[in-house]
Amino acid sequence: MDIRHPLLPVMRDGLDPHEDLVRLRRERPVAAFSMLGLREAWLVTRHDDVRTVLGDAGTFGNDLSLARDGAPVAGQWQPGGLGFHDSPVHTRRRRLLAPAFRAHVVRGMAPRIEDIVAAQLDRLARAGPPVDLVRALAEPVASGVMSALVGVPRACRRGRGTSRFELSGDLGTSVAAVGRSLDDVRRLVGRQRAGPRAGLLGRLLDEHGDQLDDQELAGLIDGLLTGGLDTTASMIATGCLVLLQDDRLAASVRGGAAPIDRVVDELLRYVCVAQLAFPRFARRDTSLKGQRIAAGDVVLCSLPTASRDPALGAAMDTVDPRRRTTPHLAFGFGVHRCLGAPLARLELRVVFSALLRRFPGLRLAVPAERVGFKRFSVIHGVESLPVTW
Ligand code: HEM
Repeated sequence: MDIRHPLLPVMRDGLDPHEDLVRLRRERPVAAFSMLGLREAWLVTRHDDVRTVLGDAGTFGNDLSLARDGAPVAGQWQPGGLGFHDSPVHTRRRRLLAPAFRAHVVRGMAPRIEDIVAAQLDRLARAGPPVDLVRALAEPVASGVMSALVGVPRACRRGRGTSRFELSGDLGTSVAAVGRSLDDVRRLVGRQRAGPRAGLLGRLLDEHGDQLDDQELAGLIDGLLTGGLDTTASMIATGCLVLLQDDRLAASVRGGAAPIDRVVDELLRYVCVAQLAFPRFARRDTSLKGQRIAAGDVVLCSLPTASRDPALGAAMDTVDPRRRTTPHLAFGFGVHRCLGAPLARLELRVVFSALLRRFPGLRLAVPAERVGFKRFSVIHGVESLPVTW
């Protein structure tokens, strides 16, 4: 089969993987294609192959300069953060951030997250139905938690989100969005370097401020905000859509019958908002499922198809918290696996339980088929979610 649409890797059928991606998973699990002008790209759709690619940093690297003709691009476009770098830069930077995501540190954030969610639910109650859960709950909670974590104002999201993850425009739009938000964050770093310090940014300045310049710090913080805002907001809103369409599941969350961590894990797997892992670049000639991949080729890994691969179990296209935990790939895999995963899981547990308990009569305000989804975004999710109670 041909890949008819150049943006197929970021296309979906509502909550489900796009039917062409499902066919690729069945018939051509490692498929050559061209996307956004990338001449030699491969799209990998099966769970075992995606794990192989993401788990083998020795063969598949993240550094942009590994791409064929990639050195000039890497020179011009420096997104900072972790996702476009390999060891030793990646290892050093990840170690700087990792202490903030240790299990006991994240657990310690629970009261703060519960307060942020409760305050937002109070606002929702005061506003009265109908409301759009994306704007009235998902976005403010995700941004409130990130602000508390990082120590920056809530408003700091310009250049993030849609324009950065949306691939229907030209690549220049995404690149410009990265540049704008880096400028914003650099200003915040400069302010904290000179004045009162707060959050993770303050701690980095206190402990490593003499080794990290403002540019590198801004890249790290921008990477965290980009990684944590739209992913979590999309997962909150789209997870709510699934819960509101399944009365039994919602009742079991409300009554505590289903362990909330299992529900969250299944929702993460089933919704899988991150459509692609960071691009990987072959460091040398290699092969995968009999396909010859040349040094410098781009390899894109489809996380929704991998996370619903029938090889993982029966009925993977349904949400079933009773199934045995699956090694799904909603947070990626290997050395670049999502650093914020424990925090995201905690947020989702708090939001889903608190929302369903506080509003037992919550339901969609429009027929489910009228709920609109993002069309060509690396981070998938609902555009809006009108609800009433
Ligand atoms: C439901 C929410 C989230 C999802 C689905 C998600 C998903 C992902 C995925 C798929 C990757 C790429 C992994 C790879 O290429 O192998 C990633 C990386 C990353 N995420 Fe998340 N993420 C979420 C929330 C967060 C949060 C809340 C934060 C920060 C507070 C965060 C920070 C990061 C960082 C820093 C990376 C780069 C890691 C590295 O390259 O070493 N994410 N995430």
